[in-house]
Amino acid sequence: MANSTALLVGCGSIGKKHLQEMLNLFDAITVVDINEEALAWAKTEGGEKISTATSLEAVLANFTPFDVATVANWGPDHVPTIRALQSKGQKNFVVEKPLSDSIADARDILSEVERAGGKLWINLTRRFSGLPDGIMRVAAEHNLGELKGVTVTGGARCIATNGIHYLDLATVLFGASPISVTADLESQNINPRHESLAFYEGSVNYNYAGGKRFSCVFLNQSAVTENVRFYWRDAEGEMMPNGDFALRIRNKSEIETYPAVTRTGYAQDQVFRENLWLTPEGKTGMTALYETVKAGKSVGDTGTRTAEDLLAALHASELGQRLNLPVDEKLVDINRHWSIS
Ligand SMILES: NC(=O)c1ccc[n+]([C@@H]2O[C@H](COP(=O)([O-])OP(=O)(O)OC[C@H]3O[C@@H](n4cnc5c(N)ncnc54)[C@H](O)[C@@H]3O)[C@@H](O)[C@H]2O)c1
Repeated sequence: MANSTALLVGCGSIGKKHLQEMLNLFDAITVVDINEEALAWAKTEGGEKISTATSLEAVLANFTPFDVATVANWGPDHVPTIRALQSKGQKNFVVEKPLSDSIADARDILSEVERAGGKLWINLTRRFSGLPDGIMRVAAEHNLGELKGVTVTGGARCIATNGIHYLDLATVLFGASPISVTADLESQNINPRHESLAFYEGSVNYNYAGGKRFSCVFLNQSAVTENVRFYWRDAEGEMMPNGDFALRIRNKSEIETYPAVTRTGYAQDQVFRENLWLTPEGKTGMTALYETVKAGKSVGDTGTRTAEDLLAALHASELGQRLNLPVDEKLVDINRHWSIS
């Protein structure tokens, strides 16, 4: 049987995790990074399976398509990297979030890949983790009804860099994309990846059909990790940074005595607390993602709308307007590129 091959572009903090997954599944992996230390690490980790290059151009000069190419460099380079590889016949891609830095590219790139007969997977890891199914299962077991809202509040976590994961999780849990967004954002020059990249604080508010909401507030002057809450009519879920999920419900007799939604009460009775990161098979989201890739299975919803909806918040903030989603390109310059990663 022919050797299975993979390409990794960008072997930084997340690229290293991609490589560890790839080493379990592929026979030969080419790693591209401008940083020699990153390449040395890859060789130590993967031994004979690894070949390296210090530029994508060097790989493109003598190119045979790989079974999959993983794009894990910075956000603004994702789509140009995909397109350069596609021009040489590469079909299948795993791409880090954010998929693209413009709405136009977020709209176009999936169809470009599919038109060439390829597949696209985006590493919006929570989608592939045990969290969405786990949260919905626990909610169903406790007859909580529909999830009504998701809120995230915390320090310097960046609405684009980390907020996108929560937006995506909310979208998956609500089972539909948002219908509008308002936002009030500012960026300071503190992105640890590079000073050229933005780091957004402020607030984003997404509305979903049926009055459901996702809101996120991050503060660039605070170094406190975020609180993540899920709201049902009479219950509250909390997700801890390690993936622990706690569910607390309100006192039933209190609700019977005062049934109006405006007679709020603390949800204090903890009925569930477990770690939900892993899938029922005990896999992380990234392992589950790569097993899908190796099996050549497409995902029904890749999450390209999340890429677009996140960028819509940046436009909404700049315009000072509520934007209906997906955005109308007559109202918004969808070709504008944002410095996010
Ligand atoms: N899904 C997740 O949970 C998750 C977590 C972290 C990062 N990310 C995303 O992954 C991407 C990379 O983030 P990171 O934290 O690994 O950044 P990083 O700065 O640690 O790594 C980026 C790597 O790309 C390399 N690089 C830069 N320009 C290059 C070029 N022209 N050719 C080849 N290599 C180049 C750098 O040398 C570096 O090793 C970002 O888009 C980020 O948002 C996703």
